[in-house]
Amino acid sequence: METLKGKNIVLCVTGGIAVYKAVDVVSKLKKLGANVDVLMTKNATEFVSPLTFQSLSHNKVIDDMFSEIKYWDIEHISLAQKADIFLVVPATTNVVGKIANGIADDMVTTTIMATKAKVLIAPAMNTNMYTNPIYQDNEKKLRKLGYLFINPDSGKLACGDIGAGKLADTQDIVDRVEYELMIEEKLKNIKILVTAGPTVEKIDPVRFITNRSTGKMGYAISKQAKLLGAEVTLITGPTNIEKPYVDNIIEIESAEEMYKEVIKNKDVDVIIMTAAVSDYRPKEYIDKKIKKSDNDLVLELGRNKDVLFELGKIKENQLLIGFAAETNNIKEYALKKLKEKNLDLIVANDVSKKEIGFGADSNEVIFFDKNGNEFELEKMSKDLVALEIVNKIIDLLKE
Ligand code: CTP
Repeated sequence: METLKGKNIVLCVTGGIAVYKAVDVVSKLKKLGANVDVLMTKNATEFVSPLTFQSLSHNKVIDDMFSEIKYWDIEHISLAQKADIFLVVPATTNVVGKIANGIADDMVTTTIMATKAKVLIAPAMNTNMYTNPIYQDNEKKLRKLGYLFINPDSGKLACGDIGAGKLADTQDIVDRVEYELMIEEKLKNIKILVTAGPTVEKIDPVRFITNRSTGKMGYAISKQAKLLGAEVTLITGPTNIEKPYVDNIIEIESAEEMYKEVIKNKDVDVIIMTAAVSDYRPKEYIDKKIKKSDNDLVLELGRNKDVLFELGKIKENQLLIGFAAETNNIKEYALKKLKEKNLDLIVANDVSKKEIGFGADSNEVIFFDKNGNEFELEKMSKDLVALEIVNKIIDLLKE
């Protein structure tokens, strides 16, 4: 989806080894439909040529050429005015220090100084520089003034040191930009708990049983809820997809861990259970690899708790939303689950259809709510289904 169509993003690239990653940020932002103007400090151009950014952004890159000083004056003000958001990727300790202290001596710093748009800074530097109290004070000061930061990751840095200072993942940077530009406050002050993905029930150290689920639907709902201003906690089983930008992510493996975490975090306004929780687990976990023999192997399974059912029993004022993945008798089974689990809404889909459901990017669902309403959505992307679900939640919250 071109979620950033019509948005103007000014990307300031400052000199550090992570400059090459800013190239990926431009490419991802362009794919989302944004217009991207790139400003580079002189040091940044030593790492990657402006031509690379120019080719990807389809805009002239502005760097610090003194010969163009006249052109700067007009250009930096117009960029400062038209930007919906400024990004500084990667941000060196030098640029953060300059902004924090009002030093505007190049194209990047003068333009940032002149803008009223949000400024999102993604620092990347040596770990000792990052933890240096002078840098930390500068960051603190800027945060107080409303500048936004995306924390660096920890890991092995280009200089060989290990610690915090690695540029945040480029997808996380892009997700954060989407969030900052798209946020609407319809769900302000609403706390939402979403579960997603499969659970994994271990048999022995190398084997497990699980349910089919990629986590896409739950992640899409979490993202939409966050974009509408909710405070979102996501409890997720193991998945292979990018985690969404939300307030809190809790990773679990088994259904039992899922149950414990859900109960611990249940004091919210809305709980949405998209997770494919395993109904059974091996009765006994064997802590050494089971060796094969010529005989058949019988695995005895014990029941896991039905998390949603348990929530339904203790529910007070919150909204409880479940999913029903069915292969047949969809309506009958969905309504049965709605009633038995004391839900406000159940979202049913037919997982026997290949082009929707597990792993697919699209879904085709039917809503059944506690008031007896039934509403069928046409086939659409999981992002749009997520938006419909979140909109339905907004309606239910008004009741
Ligand atoms: N669910 C749950 N805990 C379980 C099983 C399911 O909380 N142990 C939740 C799911 O997250 C989903 C809803 O219950 O929101 C329905 O899940 P589904 O697998 O469709 O149905 P089950 O209740 O397991 O029933 P059945 O297997 O008989 O279809």
